[in-house]
Amino acid sequence: MKLKIAVLPGDGIGPEVTNQAIKALNAIADAFDHEFIYKDALVGAVAIDETGNPLPPETIAVCEAADAILFGSIGDPKYDNNPDAKVRPEQGLLALRKTMGLYTNIRPVKAYETLLEKSPLKTEFIKDVDFTIYRELTGGIYFGKKNLSEDGKTASDLCEYSDYEIERIAHHAFKAAQKRKNKLTLVDKANVLESSRLWRRVVTEVAKSYSDVTLEFLFVDNAAMQMILNPKQFDVILTENMFGDIISDEGSVIGGSIGLLASASIGDNSALFEPIHGSYPQAKGQNIANPIASILSAAMLLEQFNLVDEANLVRQAVEKSLELKVSTPDLNKENSFSTTRVGDFIAELILNNEDFKINL
Ligand code: IPM
Ligand code: MN
Repeated sequence: MKLKIAVLPGDGIGPEVTNQAIKALNAIADAFDHEFIYKDALVGAVAIDETGNPLPPETIAVCEAADAILFGSIGDPKYDNNPDAKVRPEQGLLALRKTMGLYTNIRPVKAYETLLEKSPLKTEFIKDVDFTIYRELTGGIYFGKKNLSEDGKTASDLCEYSDYEIERIAHHAFKAAQKRKNKLTLVDKANVLESSRLWRRVVTEVAKSYSDVTLEFLFVDNAAMQMILNPKQFDVILTENMFGDIISDEGSVIGGSIGLLASASIGDNSALFEPIHGSYPQAKGQNIANPIASILSAAMLLEQFNLVDEANLVRQAVEKSLELKVSTPDLNKENSFSTTRVGDFIAELILNNEDFKINL
């Protein structure tokens, strides 16, 4: 298969981790005789520095011409500490999600057997945890009307959803549940928010087409608690934009490092793959960031194009590297490996996949 991939490394550790994902993709291309063609483009603070725009039109053009987008991370402390900055790196990612119509964000959360002791949570609670968050990505409070009063003393952000926006992601989430453990939990705040009550009504209606899937409802405050108390109860979690942002970072505690969590953002005509972590500016250029979230995002990219064996091989190679403790300092303080070494190791495992499969 031939795939055109737009590469948007972004800020901080973005370029370092994205390079490792490309190594894994190149190893897959070699092993399975595919052709992946990459084209780089600017986004985030680096794009502001070079062009004044966090999402330059050339970047949108590169993304539109590609089959998939591989995204690193964005954010820079010089903007975080300046609430008055008019142009911010994050606007680049948000505008990209909106422009490309990437409304379904999929964030798998998994407790790896070999990393159970890395989580601050007790092993008995997290062993075998495997769930996926379906986060709505182009609506809600992130994109609602914003206002700051003239005297600067009152501000508002509108949380708005239409039935159509809820329905389209709900179908994807129910279909995913059918391929998993047939359970979907809608996380909302329907005891307080009108928009959440709309989510409940629409999702209850959509559920009628998926009679083999059990639908449950949880208020987001309770869901935040349940995710720590009893995360094994979850299969597919469906939620709106901001709740999904918050609970997915919480979910990363289960796996032992936020450096492990990958995501896919899917629209009707395009798809973007990115680690859920931020730009980790303190680690920039130090070759210490964990590349696995980015590599697993590349696995999700492969799966999106039905390259299922390829995606599974990447995942197996990642699991093998974790098992062998070839890991960055977030997982392996005493005897750590660099970002590039972990990337090379995983790519080598993929290339030597025949021996590797026998060893598994
Ligand atoms: C994420 C990030 C983004 C979000 C930021 C960088 C705008 O936190 O992808 O989870 O809030 O969606
Ligand atoms: Mn986030």
